[in-house]
Amino acid sequence: ETVEWSPESYDLAGHDTYMHKEICEQADAVDRVLRGRIEDRFSTVHLGGLNLDAREARAVRRVKILGCGTSYHAGMIGAQLIEELARVPADAEPASEFRYRNPVVDPDTLYVAVSQSGETYDVLAAVQELKRKGARVLGVVNVVGSAIARETDGGIYVHAGPEVCVVSTKCFTNTVVAFGLLALHLGRIRDLSVADGRRVIEGLRRLPDQIAEMLRGEDAIRTLAKEYAHARSMMFIGRVRGYPVAREAALKLKEVSYIHAEAYPASELKHGPLALIEPEVPTVAIVPDDELLEKNRAALEEIKAREGRILAVAHRRQDKADHTIVVPRSEPELDPILMGIPLQLLAYHTALELGRDIDKPRNLAKSVTVE
Ligand code: G6P
Repeated sequence: ETVEWSPESYDLAGHDTYMHKEICEQADAVDRVLRGRIEDRFSTVHLGGLNLDAREARAVRRVKILGCGTSYHAGMIGAQLIEELARVPADAEPASEFRYRNPVVDPDTLYVAVSQSGETYDVLAAVQELKRKGARVLGVVNVVGSAIARETDGGIYVHAGPEVCVVSTKCFTNTVVAFGLLALHLGRIRDLSVADGRRVIEGLRRLPDQIAEMLRGEDAIRTLAKEYAHARSMMFIGRVRGYPVAREAALKLKEVSYIHAEAYPASELKHGPLALIEPEVPTVAIVPDDELLEKNRAALEEIKAREGRILAVAHRRQDKADHTIVVPRSEPELDPILMGIPLQLLAYHTALELGRDIDKPRNLAKSVTVE
């Protein structure tokens, strides 16, 4: 059973699909999730609905993030942001799996449920199980007043606006930004310096313009999509910050184009997936200019040596790649936010090229409200 949306009730505003409209709305959407929340005086953020005072926030020893599908991937990036900025151990897990493995529920752990709709059954059931065991659970949710928003002790609304396309784009981006705010908040209560707080805030503030700039490069991505649309399968690789970006980009491509795609940490290539590399199986590589650049380049060389085609998403042109999508530089912690956006467009244009039903892919529903 699924929740039925009636997309007709929302204006397409001149776009051919909701997916395209929602991708293009991201500069404004990110502006909304930031609005009114930055506190420059203390280089931190104010999150009104969190319901977690400074003493409680300091007592958190671990963060466990639960979600499904794209929200789970946003949670993976969220966990990294929390570890990087707040130095609190954090990880993400599919809510469905968590619920069934009789998890150890620890009073010093802060649980965070992530959901665009706020109605996904597996996430809601995980929240209820956690509450029953006395845990504190926050929500990172888009739909105001939804079931998960109501059941959690507090949280952050991501303010992406209504998302109609079955596959999530703007809500993913806004959810990651919301986690950036949570990480900054937890960090500034702990050991994140004023200078680093300010640096991250400035990075967040630059995002809307940088997103708008990337979206202006859509024509080049349309051309690339034509080039790769007839791949038999695609590999997506990245390391650390790049890995969840690869996961989400592979999911997006699968969902809307029906091309098989796999995501791997680039470091794991040699432990198996390298066997798949051949000209019909191109690789999309996330290659930010960070401390792992040389390691990522080595992975590109290994792929090239097997005659694999490579599309890099990077801060500058990669000579080992056949094509590079150059994205604007950000603060390194925020790279995953910008690097995912051109790959949403790649999935969209690939699906368009293949004539897919972009807003309603076969077998999928926007919101899965049963187990
Ligand atoms: C469904 C949708 C996915 C979505 C997932 C979680 O499977 O097809 O696009 O990511 O549910 O949805 P939620 O509303 O909880 O974020």
